[in-house]
Amino acid sequence: MVTARNLCKNYYDSLGNIVQACVDLSFEAQAGEVFGLLGTNGAGKTTALRMLSTVLRPTSGDAMVAGHSITHAPDRVRASIGFLSSDTGIYGRLTAREMIEYFGRLHGMSDERINDRVEEIADVLEMREFLNRRCDKLSSGQKQRVSIARTIVHDPEVLILDEPTSGLDILSAAQIVRFIRQSRDRGRCVVFSTHIMREAEKLCDRILILHKGTVRLAGTLAEICGRAGTNDLEEIFMEAVGEIQS
Ligand SMILES: Nc1ncnc2c1ncn2[C@@H]1O[C@H](COP(=O)(O)OP(=O)(O)OP(=O)(O)O)[C@@H](O)[C@H]1O
Ligand SMILES: [Mg+2]
Repeated sequence: MVTARNLCKNYYDSLGNIVQACVDLSFEAQAGEVFGLLGTNGAGKTTALRMLSTVLRPTSGDAMVAGHSITHAPDRVRASIGFLSSDTGIYGRLTAREMIEYFGRLHGMSDERINDRVEEIADVLEMREFLNRRCDKLSSGQKQRVSIARTIVHDPEVLILDEPTSGLDILSAAQIVRFIRQSRDRGRCVVFSTHIMREAEKLCDRILILHKGTVRLAGTLAEICGRAGTNDLEEIFMEAVGEIQS
């Protein structure tokens, strides 16, 4: 469903020096699987997810997302994915329902299909209580659910979520975790980033640890824990990012 091949992204700082935000990133994530991209601040998670979502063009390398190349067919990729970024905006003057409808129309969906999806999404993300409230009156957890709702209105095959639980309390975060599990159970491929190891432990089928733009460890959670001889992902993570000095 998602196959990244040697993705690289270089940025330039104000002095013209190269910042290698992502170096030779390769991985595969299947349908019906939750893939976790783990890394500390500045590891390159957002850069990687923005490349997969076609928001950023890779410096080199390519990825196939839902059967399409991010470099050769970015429009097709965009139609097949739902991308939640930290700056996925919502319009304060619209209600939660109007937000979902608006993005449904942008995707060219019929009114009937949009109405069906609003019902489904309101159930899955537990949005009934605030569906008809203006977005600027919502709590941050509710706003985050509206952001997710608008990114999945077209029921994409691949969900790319950049730190979907960031800043949320334990209950709101648990709702998002439930939603990710349900998406997986419906055969969707979910690629998400986090620096919360507990979350990755609970959710991921496969993980990749990114540190300073490079892959430090990758595999199924079961393989990785088996090899490390512990189920403590925090410990595994610390070792993976601490071992190699750069
Ligand atoms: N537009 C840019 N120009 C220059 N450098 C950038 C740019 N965007 C990101 N970087 C650098 O690239 C590296 C990776 O950043 P990125 O945002 O991908 O990390 P991240 O893993 O998402 O971090 P966080 O957990 O803080 O969100 C960082 O060193 C960052 O400073
Ligand atoms: Mg980030």
